[in-house]
Amino acid sequence: MAELTSIILAAGQGTRMNSSLPKVLHPLLGRPMLQYIVDASIKVGSSRTIVVVGFEGQQVIDTIDQGHGLGQGQAQAQAHDLQYVWQKQQLGTGHAVMMAQEILSKVDGDLLVLYGDTPLLRAETIQELLKTKRTQQAAAAVLTTQLVEPKGFGRIIRNSAGTIQGIIEEKDASTEERKITEVNTGVYCFEIPLLLKALHEITPRNAQGEYYLTDVIKVMAGKGLRVIGVVTAAAEEVMGPNDRIQLAQTENFLKQAINQRWMSSGVTIQDPSFTYIGPEVEIGRDTTVLPGTFLQGKTIIGEHCIIGPHTKIIDSVIEHHTTVQFSQIVQAHLGPENNVGPYTYVRPGTVSAAKVKIGDFVEIKNCQIGIGTKVPHLTYLGDSELGAGVNIGAGTITCNYDGVSKHRTVIKDGAFIGSNANLVAPVTIGEKATIGAGSTITKEVPDNALAVARSKQEVKTGWRSPREREK
Ligand code: UD1
Ligand code: CA
Repeated sequence: MAELTSIILAAGQGTRMNSSLPKVLHPLLGRPMLQYIVDASIKVGSSRTIVVVGFEGQQVIDTIDQGHGLGQGQAQAQAHDLQYVWQKQQLGTGHAVMMAQEILSKVDGDLLVLYGDTPLLRAETIQELLKTKRTQQAAAAVLTTQLVEPKGFGRIIRNSAGTIQGIIEEKDASTEERKITEVNTGVYCFEIPLLLKALHEITPRNAQGEYYLTDVIKVMAGKGLRVIGVVTAAAEEVMGPNDRIQLAQTENFLKQAINQRWMSSGVTIQDPSFTYIGPEVEIGRDTTVLPGTFLQGKTIIGEHCIIGPHTKIIDSVIEHHTTVQFSQIVQAHLGPENNVGPYTYVRPGTVSAAKVKIGDFVEIKNCQIGIGTKVPHLTYLGDSELGAGVNIGAGTITCNYDGVSKHRTVIKDGAFIGSNANLVAPVTIGEKATIGAGSTITKEVPDNALAVARSKQEVKTGWRSPREREK
């Protein structure tokens, strides 16, 4: 099969977004718009993807390279040949493709042209265009669609035999041409060497003074090359959001599709309109997701969990029969039958075993927590290792940071930490040791020992306060 390369045009600002952030980086369900189309490009089997950047281009490159919210696709995407080319001045869609000329002149096969702002475009739809182009051995194929309201789009010009002659932009179109309802979606597939030849022949002599990519269709058709139009019924897939109103509509569309898929596979979603599940999240059967929940990145939720209400989980694993309510969990792994929340913040690097309780107003960062351990309330644990069956009293703080370095706290199996203890790291609390309430622990506590480190209570009987003495 011929080699496939994709080019994604993402140099524009997206003026109507009225934003300092380039349009293609605005997130939908926690991931940048551009990421969706990069993934689609990988999914259709492109061996390389070229992204044309311009407005805030470095930010676009960094975001995509960091695999922001990439989740599952990350490893796949890292192995993928992703290249960037700059288009410093946005002189039109044809000009944008020309920026990749050097790369393209060294490769054969087909080029898919995609836009960075069409996150709804499915790989299946692109595949249909590609397949038709190849079976009909066309030099170029354009994905088109019929619109009742074609305003703003390029119109497809066909002759009486139905063969495509060209594409006319709205601003250059005559009144007659504007009546055409078949429009250009902006998705194309070209034979690379033929496209490069045609690109040399386009000029910016048009209403917008731009190098239109659409003009290569006319050039190719004029040379008698086979140019075909593939009509798709999925018009909503190629509609990129142009402003923030459409951005919300686009996210809503994606959200509904994803939520419906999970409900069909046995997940209860109490209020699908107020539940935001990212495209790479996985959820087990008989789990309930309650309103106000955001599941993002590569998050995996087991079976029979209750997630929410008002919970955000990013790039984390939650094993079966675990409950998380009113909480935020980031890059953590919670074991089975855990009970988390309300108002818990679980931060990166935290791993819990089975039957762990992490209760209200608890923040946990980079901790390993053993089976059956309880951290019920008002606690900060950082860089710590907790054994099995440990009980952490209210107000316990691990003082893990001395202002320069982070240090570890080890709390062994069955230890009991009294309320309001400060554990100054590095420190180890032995097995079944007990820490008296209010202690500031700075030295190792052996197994089975009691450590109390607080000033002794003094009681003065019959004492009258200065206020009372004045009376
Ligand atoms: C384009 C098509 C039009 C089609 C419509 C579908 C042309 C001339 N017209 O028009 O026929 O109906 O898409 O949406 O191609 N971009 C760059 N560099 C540039 C210009 C654009 O990277 O110099 C990027 C933009 O960031 C955007 C995409 O290309 O993602 C499309 O550009 P836009 O200006 O929106 O094209 P339209 O005028 O909508
Ligand atoms: Ca557009």
